[in-house]
Amino acid sequence: MGKEVKIITTEDGSHSLFLPELNETYHSFHGAYRESVHVFMLYGLEAWYTKNPDRFPIRIFEVGFGTGLNAWLSLVWAEQYKVPVLYHSIEPFPLEKDIYSQLNYTEVDHTIYHYAPYFQQLHEATWGEGVIMSEYFNMKKDIITLEDATLYSSDIVFFDAFAPNKQPELWTKEILEKVTETMNPGAVFTTYCAKGQVKRDLSDLGLEVETLPGPPGKKEMTRGWRKG
Ligand SMILES: C[S@@+](CC[C@H](N)C(=O)[O-])C[C@H]1O[C@@H](n2cnc3c(N)ncnc32)[C@H](O)[C@@H]1O
Repeated sequence: MGKEVKIITTEDGSHSLFLPELNETYHSFHGAYRESVHVFMLYGLEAWYTKNPDRFPIRIFEVGFGTGLNAWLSLVWAEQYKVPVLYHSIEPFPLEKDIYSQLNYTEVDHTIYHYAPYFQQLHEATWGEGVIMSEYFNMKKDIITLEDATLYSSDIVFFDAFAPNKQPELWTKEILEKVTETMNPGAVFTTYCAKGQVKRDLSDLGLEVETLPGPPGKKEMTRGWRKG
């Protein structure tokens, strides 16, 4: 199932994966953990919740489950805020246990270390079924490509595909339309990518697009809001 990947250590000390086939990493080399917190937690989940403190459950859709880092940080957030989250993620190439069991994300921030067991549980959860992971976090992960996936309505989209120059088929206007048309009024789309064409396409698809400061080492990132 999984492709050949190598564990690497990024500049903030957290792991990421290198995929030789694409000559691509799963996260920014400047810091995987910092990137995930900045792009998806801070400018995604936190931003949406600040605008919508009374709307739950929060429906998150993620493109690319990968290392499970975004899912785990979202679970920790849901438990800390006591806000129900329904998390849908897709991944055509699930990682093997010998890879995900070595990842060091649960050791980065000792204040949330007691959530560590959930990291393995997220990986071990049955694919293709809704699973109650914790009091406030339900997840469904599907082994499927974005091209073939059936999507549900979402409040937040974590668009975490490989970069457009490595995987252009996931950044076409048609694919972006498939994703953005599932977004509820007021929903937010967030990605580390700052490519001009992606921003123009998201804008053409009706989102209010913002260029925001990127995580350390990256100048910019992109966020888009569906009008409420
Ligand atoms: C940039 S990585 C990020 C993964 C994850 N969010 C993380 O933090 O580890 C991109 C992910 O998209 C997955 N992927 C590859 N092709 C895909 C496709 N056609 N549809 C959906 N996901 C895909 C990869 O296997 C990989 O896990």
